[in-house]
Amino acid sequence: MSGKTAIRLGLIGCGTVGRGVVALLANRPDCQITHIAVRSPEKHRDFMAEELPQATVCQDPMAVATHPDVDVLVEVAGGVDTAEGWMTAALKAGKPVVTANKDCMATHGHTLRACAEQHNVPLLYEAAVAAGIPLVAPLKTSLAANRITRLAGILNGTCNYMLTRMAQEGWGYSHALEQAQAKGFAEADPTNDVGGKDTAYKLSILTRLAFGQSVSVDDMLLEGITTITDTDMQLADEFGFAIKLLGIAQSAGEALDVPNLDVRVHPVLLAKTHPLASVANEFNALWVQGHAVGELMFYGRGAGELPTASGVCGDVLSVVAAMQGGALSHTAFADPALSNTPMALLPVNDIASRYYIRLVTQDTPGVVGTIGTICGNAGLSLESVIQQGVTNDGHANIVLMTQMHMEGQCQQALEAFNACETIESVACMLRVLD
Ligand code: HSE
Repeated sequence: MSGKTAIRLGLIGCGTVGRGVVALLANRPDCQITHIAVRSPEKHRDFMAEELPQATVCQDPMAVATHPDVDVLVEVAGGVDTAEGWMTAALKAGKPVVTANKDCMATHGHTLRACAEQHNVPLLYEAAVAAGIPLVAPLKTSLAANRITRLAGILNGTCNYMLTRMAQEGWGYSHALEQAQAKGFAEADPTNDVGGKDTAYKLSILTRLAFGQSVSVDDMLLEGITTITDTDMQLADEFGFAIKLLGIAQSAGEALDVPNLDVRVHPVLLAKTHPLASVANEFNALWVQGHAVGELMFYGRGAGELPTASGVCGDVLSVVAAMQGGALSHTAFADPALSNTPMALLPVNDIASRYYIRLVTQDTPGVVGTIGTICGNAGLSLESVIQQGVTNDGHANIVLMTQMHMEGQCQQALEAFNACETIESVACMLRVLD
């Protein structure tokens, strides 16, 4: 590096991820963090003075994004619209941008990419999907010769930690969430973690890369893990399944000559022999099927200080190397263009799956016959029916596993179950990933 000027980095945000970025980039000869924007400089004073004594610290992210002495903007503060504003300003000023912001990339990726292209600067976001697991770069480059047919991912560490502990230790949902928060996996407000939206943001980004299709999180089937109970975890186990929250995107045939894309986030029953079933605790994984490469799985830590900083700094250092080599351009880092063949989002009722349905019923003669009639009327064939004794308050837990059917048929049966007097509730419905 001798003889080359260090590239000056502006950092927005110095929370968990920002501290990791500072730690990984400390004392490098090729780049140095010179400007930082944080919400409360007071809170960070000792840390900044020790780690980055030469850096200018302020409370104004826009000032860092546009500062003439900042060469590259690194955004790890989060937020959607405000972050888009900072990144857009930096791109317009001709500065490369590196971000870990999944919410912003999934929501405003289209306009940010266009801005980066217009100003001929890179926009990189590896850490926005699964933090330390490289997914964006492999899908952009190493797998570019493949037609991806299916991907399924465990993309939220909080949910995977909770589901693992509920299955292995018999923890209830609330205790599992408390522990995930105590360990720092969950966001400050865990609604997007457990509600599935965090997974949906990541899936939206992956779907663009793998299928060349732009799918908004608002258009996906989105269900979180909030209704999963330890009873379902135990029953799934007895059926030979694990329960995992997955983001799934797959080609799904054609309708009216338009190819369909099936994109959804929900908890699934996964055969214990599936490679994703053994991904435990806060680990993330993406399982990909490409027509040439076959099956592939990426595995690692999808959250946390240093794993996320690993993804961010990989992007930073590739930009720094290009700048120092005099070869910086948008093209070298650009995402593949959207496909010329738009795909229609598969309607939820056309999803094909096996279904696990747990009904809480009255303990009366004929209830199993009623259930059979409702399934028959909806055209649902059953693979198995299990009744798990009678509860203390005189109810029965009856669990159905259907054969492969369209979701519309399943929903028709669920409606009839809900309207039936001897059935107290549909306690849980889960799709199987086959
Ligand atoms: N809170 C997220 C998780 C990490 O639990 O995976 C950032 O998306």
